[in-house]
Amino acid sequence: MKGIILAGGSGTRLYPLTKSISKQILPIYDKPMIYYPLSVLMLAGIREILIISTPRDVDIFKELLGNGDNIGIRIEYAIQDNPNGIAESFIIGEKFIGNSSVALVLGDNIFYGSNFGNILLESSNLVEGAIIFGCFVKNPKDYGVIELDQNMSPISIEEKPENPKSSFAIPGLYFFDNKVVNIAKSVQPSDRGELEITSVINEYLKLGQLNVHLAGRGLAWLDTGTHESLLEASNFVEAIQKRQGLYIACIEEIAYRRGYISKDKLVELAQPLVKTDYGKYLLELANEEQS
Ligand code: DAU
Repeated sequence: MKGIILAGGSGTRLYPLTKSISKQILPIYDKPMIYYPLSVLMLAGIREILIISTPRDVDIFKELLGNGDNIGIRIEYAIQDNPNGIAESFIIGEKFIGNSSVALVLGDNIFYGSNFGNILLESSNLVEGAIIFGCFVKNPKDYGVIELDQNMSPISIEEKPENPKSSFAIPGLYFFDNKVVNIAKSVQPSDRGELEITSVINEYLKLGQLNVHLAGRGLAWLDTGTHESLLEASNFVEAIQKRQGLYIACIEEIAYRRGYISKDKLVELAQPLVKTDYGKYLLELANEEQS
């Protein structure tokens, strides 16, 4: 399976923060926002990743992450000229996707939860159809929403409905088989002029090939859409990392634990960061495994 991170958009809801830089490069506590969705794809075992961003911003991601070699993965880049909708990712990424199935994660979605790594690994085994997630939220109106029957099977999917039929929002993480490319090409733009991801999901629902994984209380899905939620996300990451001493979205750690990079490489990657707790964490990790 291949992976796409969509990290474009205009970010106007976070102005002036994002007037001259990408939303997905903003800090969430101690690391750039894009580390979080990148870590999700890495935890799913995906090693071929396409980052899609704007003509203005794509270069900062290249500078930050390069070709992924350092962390044992392959990263390619593509440009979305205008924010024409999330589903455009599959059209832009057609060549990259090739014959594969594909996971899409939005560059501003942050997840943290027990057993989440296993759920991701399982999802990446998808052969046919689609897998989406359902997260219970207080404000479903702001998201894609899933309506479920008594057996908790999906019966409808709506984008930002005025009257939501449930409290289950669809977070920005989706797993699709290879049909997704043709489906994305076939859906019509919505009233707001976007190729909606919910339109793509609806096609899978019609085909009877939509699997919904309802996340329990153990999964935190954090919003980064407003200044307030951005700060809350940082505070959340800080609290967990300080309390547990375990890092969220430490891409070097994932690469090391997954065996993509050696201990020597981990130590090398830590060197430019040694003045920070992040760098010290990487060194501790390397030492820990020795004992
Ligand atoms: O966060 C989950 C929600 O994301 C889903 O529940 C919704 O179904 C889905 O439509 C989306 O809703 P948002 O209102 O959050 O979408 P937004 O336009 O803010 O875009 C989400 C991210 O994707 C944002 O970081 C910008 C980026 N993006 C968006 C569009 C439309 C792009 O890079 N290109 C685009 O064309």
